[in-house]
Amino acid sequence: MNHPRVLLALVALSTLGPVGCGGPNPPGTGDPNPPAPISARYAPRTDLFALTIPAGAPTHWPAANFPPLRSVRLFPHTPDRDLADDLRKQLGKNVLDPLRYEQDVWMPAQADRLARLLDAHFGTPAAPTVLLPDWDTVVATANVRFEPGETFGASLKEARNRLGKFKWDAWKGDHRAASAMRAELKLDDATLARGSLVYRRWCMQCHGPSGAGEASQAVAGGPTPRDYRQGVFKYVTAFPPPALPKKGPGAAGKPRREDLVRTVRNGIEGTIMPAFPTLTPQEVEDVVSYVIHLSVRGEVELACMAKLIKPGDDDPLYVGGEIDWLFVQNELWVLDNWGVAAKNPIPVPPEPFATEPERLKSAVRGFKLYGSAEFGCASCHASYGRVPQLKWDAWGTVVQPRNFTLGVYRGGRRGEDLYARIYGGIYPSGMTAFHDRVAATAPGTPDKIWDIVHFLQALADPADRKRIQELDGEVKIEP
Ligand code: HEC
Ligand code: HEC
Repeated sequence: MNHPRVLLALVALSTLGPVGCGGPNPPGTGDPNPPAPISARYAPRTDLFALTIPAGAPTHWPAANFPPLRSVRLFPHTPDRDLADDLRKQLGKNVLDPLRYEQDVWMPAQADRLARLLDAHFGTPAAPTVLLPDWDTVVATANVRFEPGETFGASLKEARNRLGKFKWDAWKGDHRAASAMRAELKLDDATLARGSLVYRRWCMQCHGPSGAGEASQAVAGGPTPRDYRQGVFKYVTAFPPPALPKKGPGAAGKPRREDLVRTVRNGIEGTIMPAFPTLTPQEVEDVVSYVIHLSVRGEVELACMAKLIKPGDDDPLYVGGEIDWLFVQNELWVLDNWGVAAKNPIPVPPEPFATEPERLKSAVRGFKLYGSAEFGCASCHASYGRVPQLKWDAWGTVVQPRNFTLGVYRGGRRGEDLYARIYGGIYPSGMTAFHDRVAATAPGTPDKIWDIVHFLQALADPADRKRIQELDGEVKIEP
């Protein structure tokens, strides 16, 4: 029973009590409806989570015309028990529960250390920050990881051993990239403090104080507000090379700053996410920085919790300084991954056709590509999306491949928006990326993705539909 981790768990259990509870609010002072207090800290994550997109499909739609419920995201209380159970079954053992402490795996002392690190590095809603340790601190954190209970001599020997193997150049590069990204993403304290105010006024009622997407307005129906803590987004124009070695949770599904600006400006058509045309350019920039702050914080938290709750066979004992190093690594990697996205915008060629006949001919080619084995859009968007083929997304909410006959697009309806969507896919929704279909086209041949875009545009317009059917008798659209 003198294993250090066991000992630590017992000590922590007896002295700390439950971790992360803010405690009850002080008794009211007479006002029957006092304003909701701004919680001093970001609440530590307590909801269930899973790390992989479930490959299966939901067995039923919760109710006609009533798309995803927030509860299906694995929250314990759910109005649609069947659907939530369905998801749990498909995820199997991959569901991680932050509230279930187990000896030697996930212990209150670990949760407490992680919560302290999060507070120190990311501040509070009123004073948000992104504290990136300086290089000397990174080196020290990486190499001096004392385990509680270790003797000084043993620790010194171990630290010397680690220093010998430390990959100076690689980590220095990661640290430099992360610092550059912190500046490029405008994550300085002044911007974040302003952004936090805009967020609390206009976004928090849906996206929640820590960006979990679970606030009061989130239950209304339709797709649930984005949970930023996963670090992935749907309507993005970045496409990092898929073969890139993965550092931390990886670069796929990260937006560019411009994407977030566009989302805030235009809203998300067909959902409850409103457009914000009256925010000043400065306010939009500030709130976008703040959303990035919440996302980076949430993703570092998620990545650390995943390791702590479900350590791999080669992982060290995550106690003491090991947790600090796990945290710093993930902070560097998450920022670096935002940088990778920023450096890899989707190359959208300009609209190739100026005249209507050209555009319609292109749409006919697009029709053929749509159903071809090469693209196979119909495998998910059956009958142009009129037949619901339900899918789970990365948050465990139900999504439906878009119905193209309606012409409502969440990431923007311009040709270049649709082009980017088809090129890069929708990573958290499991929609395929078709980037490689245009990589090797011979010069002079029409761009296949633009052809499909023109077809989608024609589909949503009854007059154009008729025109392309007149142009080519093979075009079939009616169900
Ligand atoms: C009335 C509720 C509501 C409000 C208010 C709201 N949002 Fe949203 N937001 C949503 C919903 C719903 C979605 C998800 C839509 C979907 O999944 O298609 C979303 C998605 C997003 C996304 C993700 C886009 C992507 O590419 O994945 C961002 C970023 C975002 N909102 C930012 C904001 C910001 C910033 C504000 C405040 C200025 C805000 N939202 C206010 C409901 C809201
Ligand atoms: C593996 C399944 C799958 C395949 C294959 C697929 N999609 Fe999708 N697609 C989806 C899902 C799921 C969504 C809805 C995502 C969401 O709402 O989160 C979607 C949404 C879309 C959207 C809506 C974007 C927006 O801004 O609202 C477009 C456009 C689209 N798909 C085009 C295509 C085209 C064109 C093809 C074939 C070249 C294709 N998809 C192939 C699954 C797929």
